[in-house]
Amino acid sequence: MSLVEMSGIRKSFYGVEVLHGVNFQLKAGTVHALMGENGAGKSTLMKALAGVHRFDGGVIKIQGKPADIYSPSDARSLGVAMIQQELSPVEELSVAENIFLGREPVKMGFVDYKQLYRQTEKLLDSLNLNMNPRTKMKALPMAEQQMVEIAKAISQNAHIVIMDEPTSSITNREVESLFRMIADMKARGTGIIYISHKMDEIFRVADEITVLRDGGNVGTWKKGEIDTEQLICSMVGRELKSQFPKVEVTIGEPILEVRNLTLAHQYEDISFTLHRGEILGFVGLIGSGRTELMNSLFGITQPEKGKILLEGEEVTFKSPRDAVTHGIAYVTEDRKGKGLVLPMSICHNTTLPSLRKFTKSGLLQRRAEGNAVTRQVSSLNIKTASTLLPVKSLSGGNQQKVVLAKWMMTEPKIIIFDEPTRGIDVGSKAEIYKIMCDYAAQGNAVILVSSEMPEAMGMSDRILVLSNHRFSGELRRSEFSEEAIVQMQFKHMISRRNDDDRSDVK
Ligand SMILES: Nc1ncnc2c1ncn2[C@@H]1O[C@H](COP(=O)(O)OP(=O)(O)OP(=O)(O)O)[C@@H](O)[C@H]1O
Ligand SMILES: [Mg+2]
Repeated sequence: MSLVEMSGIRKSFYGVEVLHGVNFQLKAGTVHALMGENGAGKSTLMKALAGVHRFDGGVIKIQGKPADIYSPSDARSLGVAMIQQELSPVEELSVAENIFLGREPVKMGFVDYKQLYRQTEKLLDSLNLNMNPRTKMKALPMAEQQMVEIAKAISQNAHIVIMDEPTSSITNREVESLFRMIADMKARGTGIIYISHKMDEIFRVADEITVLRDGGNVGTWKKGEIDTEQLICSMVGRELKSQFPKVEVTIGEPILEVRNLTLAHQYEDISFTLHRGEILGFVGLIGSGRTELMNSLFGITQPEKGKILLEGEEVTFKSPRDAVTHGIAYVTEDRKGKGLVLPMSICHNTTLPSLRKFTKSGLLQRRAEGNAVTRQVSSLNIKTASTLLPVKSLSGGNQQKVVLAKWMMTEPKIIIFDEPTRGIDVGSKAEIYKIMCDYAAQGNAVILVSSEMPEAMGMSDRILVLSNHRFSGELRRSEFSEEAIVQMQFKHMISRRNDDDRSDVK
């Protein structure tokens, strides 16, 4: 018998049907991967199971019995827990309070904090998470917030756990501990639904794979019955010619020159030149100083020493607005925090930094604005019924594309992409890479910060490696290899070890 059996699930938003009678089954003690392009309906299907959305048609059975799921608490009492794609922790509360929100241990009518912290400590320990239960959520990096969310689901003793892109912002080490947790949960008979765009993870963790396309089933396969290529093909409905459409371009004159840029404890003595036509990759481990450096190139922080030259002229950016005026755009990794105003429409979000272009003698030219947005939306293939809908109505991947649309609209000379394809499906990734190439080929330039080695190597003309806040090496396209890059990333540790060896000799 299946743990979960969903059949004929239908769901519409604003009169547009997005799930057209979807079937899905989960067996106890297995991991079932749910895959499909951005907007295929994965999150919506799972929100129906978790009681976040009421579905319009179809039946859900849990352990063979028809289940009445009208709210998240209905789902919880049936043993369903969901870790949502867009995390929404209560930032002002502590880790412990977030985990036990609404089910805190009580003593004589008051929350028993001693007990709360003790229980949380036990839970975190059992999951090998090194965190203080008293820390406020807002003090934690995204990766750790995600781990807390996972701990919360586990603490609910759910036997059906939905993980919607659980690894989108966690590090490799944390992925390993997540996979260990998943193995434990499986052994206890828990069924896990796992949504991710990362193929390597899917093939490691999944026992079964179901693919959705445009709100319908494409198929379900057992592990070993399908390979990466077939999987991609079933998701996008066509064969993907090349994942990285990088073309050879003639590299032009320098557009940005950075000389000895330093901001203590963030990045030190960084120098490089970016040329017209070029895609310059920046690679480094988390904490290497990549994002900190980019923050200064965009005026979010100011360097203490060094120079930035733009088209030969020295510039200082006191604020992001300065940087935008000088033709720089910054597509960040954190779309929810810095990138988008979720309740506002797609149209408004897209024109936010370029409104001046659509204003004539103080009046917004709505038609011109609307037309320009529609063009961007179709060129980026953003899936939506209307550009007037709020951004939060879009699937995660399509929200990321709106961030991109918004910056393309400012017609920048240089775009800094920081992890631009996080949460984006394979087909759309290829589209974004194509846009990146065309944009650079028109005489602009791109800085690409990426943790994904295939992406950095597939798209860059040159790669600069940062390690421990410093510049540690440069590779040209013909010299790219994963080994070379990894070695440069760990350079500071290797040299430190040599120092230690020497001190041993003394
Ligand atoms: N609250 C909502 N209001 C309106 N439309 C919505 C809402 N939630 C989802 N949709 C629409 O339903 C469709 C499916 O979205 P869903 O979030 O399920 O996609 P997904 O497969 O999870 O994609 P991704 O990989 O990008 O997360 C999309 O077209 C989306 O715009
Ligand atoms: Mg989703």
